[in-house]
Amino acid sequence: MKAFTLGLLAAAAASASPLEARQSQSTAVLDLAVKRGAPQQLASGVLYGTPDTPNQIPDHFYTGPKLKYFRAGGAQLFGNGQRGWHWNEYPARFQSTLSNYRTARKYGGEFQLLLHDIWGTDTINSTTAWPGDNGNWNSYEAFLDRLIADIKANDMVPGLKIDIWNEPDFPWFWTRSTEQWLELWKRTYAKFRADPQLRQLPIIGPSLASRPTFDNPWWTKFMDFIVRDNVAPDQYTFHMLGDSTDRINDLETVVRTMDQFYSQTGAPRRSYSVNEYINAGDERQNSANAWHIARLERYDASGLRANWLSEWELHDFLAELVYRPNAQSEYQPNGAWQLYNYYGQEMTGTRLASTGSTDGVLDIFGTLSDDGVVRILTGVRARTGTWEIEVRNLSALGFPASGEITIQTWGFDDVGLRGVSHGPSDRGQHTHAYSDGVLRFPIFQTAEDMKTAWAFEFSRP
Ligand SMILES: *[C@@H]1O[C@H](CO)[C@@H](O)[C@H](O)[C@H]1NC(C)=O
Ligand SMILES: *[C@@H]1O[C@H](CO)[C@@H](O)[C@H](O)[C@H]1NC(C)=O
Repeated sequence: MKAFTLGLLAAAAASASPLEARQSQSTAVLDLAVKRGAPQQLASGVLYGTPDTPNQIPDHFYTGPKLKYFRAGGAQLFGNGQRGWHWNEYPARFQSTLSNYRTARKYGGEFQLLLHDIWGTDTINSTTAWPGDNGNWNSYEAFLDRLIADIKANDMVPGLKIDIWNEPDFPWFWTRSTEQWLELWKRTYAKFRADPQLRQLPIIGPSLASRPTFDNPWWTKFMDFIVRDNVAPDQYTFHMLGDSTDRINDLETVVRTMDQFYSQTGAPRRSYSVNEYINAGDERQNSANAWHIARLERYDASGLRANWLSEWELHDFLAELVYRPNAQSEYQPNGAWQLYNYYGQEMTGTRLASTGSTDGVLDIFGTLSDDGVVRILTGVRARTGTWEIEVRNLSALGFPASGEITIQTWGFDDVGLRGVSHGPSDRGQHTHAYSDGVLRFPIFQTAEDMKTAWAFEFSRP
């Protein structure tokens, strides 16, 4: 039924609308003439989601999507003896972190270590002493000494990055001033840089909950501080968890804002990691996930799926990619896993340049495989409506100036975290006429397919 509807509409639209010369508000463009290097699956990362028991989730669930960015610190272990450093209960959280690090390394991954989790911001009470309270840093310095000794003793250096403090602008993770956080940043930075064995470890941040803007004192003070004290991170980290209709919550906007920050403050340019993407509300579905994948690829930022599960579920299910109802069952892939598996396994060869629709709602990621197949992964940021994809410079692949192209469509149906998906649904082949080396075809994001992400495939002649 879905395939029929899409096919009918696609065919009708293709024959009814002659090609227009200009890009509309709602058109995303793929340029076959501009190549952007081999795909690295930059969006294949997960916040938490790795079980603390090694090998609990079978390998292919990691290797299919080529998961390679991981981030953890033993969060939400609430039992006695597990509550973190400030309870004098450090070892359990460090052991969880170490286990997750080893899993990341098993797959050749990068591991972003979350200090605030091992310290234990999720188990505070009104009398907890935070790092630097009343100018006293002794406990925090001892915490860093212990952590550094354990990193070295367990040979955790390869692939490790130090994420100094998660979301200090959000009261679950920090309840003190901006200045006290900046002092913590400086001390942590100095401690790692002073260690002969660890001074090469990348330090990343600021991992603020809010997006960079010039009216946000966490950001403005941070950018000034890292220049003044010469403590810039080796990679800037952002969280993309806000309202999906607000362009502030968009990597495209963030990248432009950072350009302004560099010119105003003299802060050094660095690579980006969006180490939490997908908001807790309307973005926990395939179409919005594909939109984020396209954004991350365009701006060459690594991305880690946010994790909205709690307690033991936070330490399982690869940030909502797989599920099993109980420990006796086999893990099953859901629709999001199938989407990332396609991204990991099929989108090989060379990345192609693209732009998203100017309304910011549709985005595309395209690749050209070594055997000449163009693949376009696309998603709408949690909205219904009609958009369009334009493929330019067909002559770059040897197509004549005008003709017809047959496109295979795959639907990545969203079945929810706890659903099972056996693969994308075959939405059929549709033939589109094109001219002047430009092909256009519509995307119908109907209510029925609101959460569905799409892949389109065609071969060079
Ligand atoms: C509050 O947390 C501290 C650890 O930060 C702990 O030592 C203390 O017992 C806790 N107080 C209560 C009432 O639970
Ligand atoms: C690609 O297409 C655009 C727009 O049609 C055109 O301006 C550009 O010159 C083309 N690039 C190449 C390399 O043919």
